[in-house]
Amino acid sequence: QTIARLDYLPYPYRLPQVELTFDLDATLTRVSSRLHFERTTPRNQPLVLNGEDLPLESIALDGQVLRPDQYRLDDHALTLFPVTETFIVEIVSRCRPAENSTLMGLYVSGESLFTQCEAEGFRRITWFPDRPDVMSRYRVTLLADKARYPFLLSNGNRQNAEELADGRHSATWEDPHPKPCYLFALVAGHFSCHEQTIQTRSGRQALLQVYSDPGSESKTEWALASLVHAVKWDEQRFGLELDLDRFMVVAARDFNMGAMENKGLNIFNSAYVLADPQTATDVTYRAIEAVIGHEYFHNWTGNRVTCRDWFQLSLKEGLTVFRDQEFSADMLAQGLPAQEAKSARAVKRIDDVSTLRMAQFPEDSGPMAHPIRPESYQEIGNFYTATVYEKGAEVIRMQHTLLGEAGFRAGLDEYFRRHDGSAVTCDDFVNAMESVYTRQNPGKTLDTFRRWYEQAGTPHVKVELDFDARQQRCTLTLSQHNEPAGIEKFLTPPQTKLPLHIPFAVGLLDQAGRPLVIHYQGQAYDTLVLELCDERQTWVFDQIPEAPIPSLLRNFSAPVIVEYAGTNAELALLAQCDTDPFARWEAGQELANRQLLALVKAVQDGRELAVEPDFIETWRALLQDTHLTPAYQARALTLPAEKVLLEKTSPMDPIAVARARAELRRVLGLALGPLWLAAYHNADDHTGKYQPDARSAGRRALKNLALAYLMAGEHREAPTLALKQYYDAQNMTDRMGGLSALVNFSDTPAGSQALSHFYEQWQHEPLVIDRWFTLQATAPTTHIDTIRTLMQHPAFTLRNPNRARSLIFQFCMNNMQGVHTTQGYEYWADQVIALDRINPEIAARLARAFDNWTRYIPSSRQTIKHELERIQAQNPLSRNVAEIVSKALKI
Ligand code: ARG
Ligand code: ZN
Repeated sequence: QTIARLDYLPYPYRLPQVELTFDLDATLTRVSSRLHFERTTPRNQPLVLNGEDLPLESIALDGQVLRPDQYRLDDHALTLFPVTETFIVEIVSRCRPAENSTLMGLYVSGESLFTQCEAEGFRRITWFPDRPDVMSRYRVTLLADKARYPFLLSNGNRQNAEELADGRHSATWEDPHPKPCYLFALVAGHFSCHEQTIQTRSGRQALLQVYSDPGSESKTEWALASLVHAVKWDEQRFGLELDLDRFMVVAARDFNMGAMENKGLNIFNSAYVLADPQTATDVTYRAIEAVIGHEYFHNWTGNRVTCRDWFQLSLKEGLTVFRDQEFSADMLAQGLPAQEAKSARAVKRIDDVSTLRMAQFPEDSGPMAHPIRPESYQEIGNFYTATVYEKGAEVIRMQHTLLGEAGFRAGLDEYFRRHDGSAVTCDDFVNAMESVYTRQNPGKTLDTFRRWYEQAGTPHVKVELDFDARQQRCTLTLSQHNEPAGIEKFLTPPQTKLPLHIPFAVGLLDQAGRPLVIHYQGQAYDTLVLELCDERQTWVFDQIPEAPIPSLLRNFSAPVIVEYAGTNAELALLAQCDTDPFARWEAGQELANRQLLALVKAVQDGRELAVEPDFIETWRALLQDTHLTPAYQARALTLPAEKVLLEKTSPMDPIAVARARAELRRVLGLALGPLWLAAYHNADDHTGKYQPDARSAGRRALKNLALAYLMAGEHREAPTLALKQYYDAQNMTDRMGGLSALVNFSDTPAGSQALSHFYEQWQHEPLVIDRWFTLQATAPTTHIDTIRTLMQHPAFTLRNPNRARSLIFQFCMNNMQGVHTTQGYEYWADQVIALDRINPEIAARLARAFDNWTRYIPSSRQTIKHELERIQAQNPLSRNVAEIVSKALKI
């Protein structure tokens, strides 16, 4: 059944105080609650509590035990009929953590107990109004065997700890901040702890702690350092101070997502906590910093101000992703000279936009397309999407662009002034921003902008440029097209899309590639942000001496697709000269897209695959440009991802795309061989001491890219270099670079020997073994039989989400040659079905691997449809997977 955004009704009760007692045990945990309710309406109202899999032991109202005929117990709801305005409900219920494989609610990971409550996990712990607009103060007592569970953690401050009889002990925690139950957490188990005390801006002392498996504390240094940076950064950039005496992060081996911002007790997937140079790559280091930042920033954007209902999820997620992106960019740029800092920030932007294009653009054109604030859902767990998160962050970023840094800060201050301590909506956020925007632009509002929250789909912006040499006048016309997205295409009447408010940043270059000044309304601009609010608008720029080359959508100022019929020569010039590093990268990518699409066509027609010499020359120029940082060069010289390309083919032909991309890489590797070799040796860092900073990581990225091109181009020296790099590596980034080169580009004994060697060496490091599975799952030579064999490997298990992702998801989603076969599709459906019995949320993510199946070539389409129907026919089938599959089949 479907829940609709517009059906929101406030809860008829307040619940200011909650007391919980947990008698913890992995097999059977008893939870006792004492809930202090206050009616908010004049008349009596039934009190409805949510519960899932929670046998009731007893229930009492104001101290009177209730008989079964005094309440109603349905599958997922417990209804009481109180007759006073305030009353206390006491409930005792049980749950079974060790049997809970969903990893929602209270569950076991390793030897320890953890909780995950967002979005609707608290109802698996105790009967409760499980909705974010009910906010309470919590007092929590944990009781457990002391030898098994020496640490007992929950939100807030520890009030007291007691030794009990029979080797048991207890701890009581009190959280002074009212919170919705999705921010509740408890952890019990054996940990090592790395901690640091810091002084916050106002001079308060705060204890920061990172807990992880005993023995892994040496791997938590980076996470703790990142947390310290995050606390300082939020003070400096947004004036937001830590409001707790103690802030804890705990790493769990089994975790459905990245991490969770429970108040004062963040629980993390260990993949986003543990790092040392031997086991983590540069990418991991950056990801840890980003996720630590993300969860910490939620303390204000999410926890202090939370969501009224789950349709508002992007209120906290879009905003917090924007904040973590800015944090990462500032950390990368920190300490670098201005030009290099600008490049470092651009690298982060490029990576974020690449993610958006790989994950969100396909989503926005498929059966799960939804606005960043969805209108309806069947299972909220399915809406932790790239649209809510990544497009949501773009929508926040556009407001930042429209208001400017100072204006955005003023808007955010206003947002907290209005809403601190409450549960609010996306409209409330835009209203706060609008108060500043209207002050800056008298008579203008964000009314048109609000449509970004209502409309799904990626807008297209068409650009027309006209130059009048006699008048030295340039006329720029932008028009926007917003097509129905996903199942909207099948709605009758079709939804009509309205124009959006699109900040569109442009610059102009002269024919030699030098920047032209744009004179507009009495001001001179290098980059001008045009505000496109209508279907079609025109801007006129005078004093333009020659026909300009436009640099469009600088810094990716809006999440749109630009249509502009520039020539390849113009793109090549932009790729070599544009002063906006993002647009410069973009021009190179667009050239590559054109070249690759021509190759795809040739593959399909069975023609010879020919690469334009001009294209190779652009790549040569980028590779030889000594002004570029290695990190930037690594991005500029990487071809668009298969997924990005696939979106541009119709019908979608994954195998042809993979072949085209591999061929272009081979040709570039071959044609530029000596340059790649020089770049490889230049970027090599002989000092040996590993540092994860932007500069060092950039060198490693370029070095590993060069190695991949050398392998692709079958350079004589390449296999030796790769072997040497693998066996001599002093850190995991180099080791993986060497190993991937061996495994991805050849099917030789040396490759499989290195793989065995790697396994032998790292078998006791689960996060490293995940890499081992991933590498094999994504190698182009890997076929379904290898995958089935790997599933039999003693280290493989479906129960650990990281492991399942490392093999199954990586194969199904990132190995086009391997998966797009009849057997591959059958394997995929088998795994969705198997996972659904264990963990519906994870199964539903895998179920989305071929969301866009109706746009595939006919042979694929038929098989996938058949497999989708097979999944749909399963009984039982989780609500999570049922929603995904029914939408996929409706399209
Ligand atoms: N709020 C968390 C974060 O983005 C994600 C929690 C998602 N939980 C889930 N069961 N889907 O930081
Ligand atoms: Zn988040």
